[in-house]
Amino acid sequence: MKNTGLALKPLSATTGVEISGVDLRAPLSDADAADIRAALNAWGVVFFRDQALEPEHQLAFARAFGTVEVRSHPTSMGQVDGHPELAVIRREPTDGRNTGGFWHTDQCFLPDPPLGSVLYAKQLPTRGGDTMFAHMGAACAALSDGLRDMLRGLRAVHVRLNYHGIDGRAQWGVTADELAHYAEKYAGIEATHPVIGRHPESGQEILYLNPIYTDRFEGWTRAESQPLIQHLCARATRPENICRFRWEDGSLAMWDNRAVLHYALDDYPGETRVMQRCVVLGPWLHPPGSA
Ligand SMILES: [Fe+2]
Repeated sequence: MKNTGLALKPLSATTGVEISGVDLRAPLSDADAADIRAALNAWGVVFFRDQALEPEHQLAFARAFGTVEVRSHPTSMGQVDGHPELAVIRREPTDGRNTGGFWHTDQCFLPDPPLGSVLYAKQLPTRGGDTMFAHMGAACAALSDGLRDMLRGLRAVHVRLNYHGIDGRAQWGVTADELAHYAEKYAGIEATHPVIGRHPESGQEILYLNPIYTDRFEGWTRAESQPLIQHLCARATRPENICRFRWEDGSLAMWDNRAVLHYALDDYPGETRVMQRCVVLGPWLHPPGSA
């Protein structure tokens, strides 16, 4: 394959587009990089198939969009030998659960979440293991004017530990001992972000919350906040607003972590799934109301 002319195939009405006509082992031309960036801005997540990538190819692709993060915060993920920027996301049959089996964005509990993530399939189960994405720009646009107006004035607190347990109760697949371990490891890791932000490239307003890490609205109790948070997330993840990607050997996805939620399905009992991820740093959502 040569880098000659991209073809785009949307996966749904709002979210996700498959791009063909590019070999990601070769350096991206400026024109292809601009087209892929435009597709990412429009659809929130881009997919490529039939690639045969070494770690340096995945990293080179990611660097076309920003600075690749070298991990600086505590995590449970392994990393690729010789490439500390590449995390290994492994699910073995004996694990209690997979990684990312909730609607979420990556690292929303940090003060500066990444612009995006680049995920490459290394070992896939014979069936299952798809990833779903939901576009939070489309979700924001679908709200009533009154609700959207109210949300523009709110900020929300995102808590790292919620992934493992909330109020001392472990999530499904997490043992009490594991929760105690994570409670210590992730103590105090949380961040507050505006509930609605303006995308720095598309200009679209984005609803920025998710049903797992978003604990409460700033100045509200968790009990007051959760009904509205869960209502908004349920609307955002309606089937009409999502796409579902079926991984194959050689598949790569890049999502805009500011614009979409994602969900890794945990539906391949007895099998192993291994993915390789790096995250890209870049400009964050602008405050609501700004240009
Ligand atoms: Fe994730």
